[in-house]
Amino acid sequence: MTYGQQEKRIPLLLIHGFPLDRTMWRPQLEGLRDIARPIAPDLRGFGDSGVTPDIMNMGDYASDLHALLRTMGIQRAVICGLSMGGYIALAFLQKYPSMVQGLILCHTKATDDTEEIRKARLLTAKTAMESGVAKIAEGLFDRLISEHTKRTRVDVVDHLKSMMERQEPAAVAAASRGMAVRPDRTDMLAGISVPTLIITGENDQLIPAIESTRMHEAIPGSTLVQIPNTSHLSNMENSETFNEQIRLFMLSVGRKHHVQNA
Ligand code: MLT
Repeated sequence: MTYGQQEKRIPLLLIHGFPLDRTMWRPQLEGLRDIARPIAPDLRGFGDSGVTPDIMNMGDYASDLHALLRTMGIQRAVICGLSMGGYIALAFLQKYPSMVQGLILCHTKATDDTEEIRKARLLTAKTAMESGVAKIAEGLFDRLISEHTKRTRVDVVDHLKSMMERQEPAAVAAASRGMAVRPDRTDMLAGISVPTLIITGENDQLIPAIESTRMHEAIPGSTLVQIPNTSHLSNMENSETFNEQIRLFMLSVGRKHHVQNA
């Protein structure tokens, strides 16, 4: 592929979940380069990205990502977020609608937290700071991936465990506090006019598929896909099917782009 051809690919911003980092998108970085220009940054504080304030609101992460795209000279991108990444994708769309060419919402929801979950998030922040991230990772691991994945994908199990354990307590705490105060964004769904793909797992134990169905019903013209044999991380657990769906979606966004610019 020549340099000129490369620049024609539509940018695909991949926003990771909690408490993870950019490496969760490895199968997409490897499998989608021919069809898209995938960009998978570490959110502030996670992975290799350095320090974080005490709280990171979803809009703060969206501002960071906006700055990154502008620095890269990107005017428009397909925004894809998984779980917390999906909360951030919706915040991004709200703040920077003209930069969004398409939206992919994976294992996520538009609703805010109940009081009980809010309290649990503040406890997660405290535990991360006082006892370290391993304890949080231990509690989450079982629900993030399906029994099928645990049995058949030792590579995914190992990657997930090591990814969670290397995150900085301060980043985990700041994200937990930010998620706890995120607003309900259900009201914006009916006004979404860009192509939207919604992905859920056959057995998502963290954000049940019904949340995806509700978003699908609210977002005009959206597509809903359920990935077999997966829980909350279908992009890692069944990357082949996940990538196929992204591929189809990117092709349709590309066709729309051509028609509009013809
Ligand atoms: C995630 O995977 O990003 C988290 O499970 C999101 C959440 O805790 O709501």
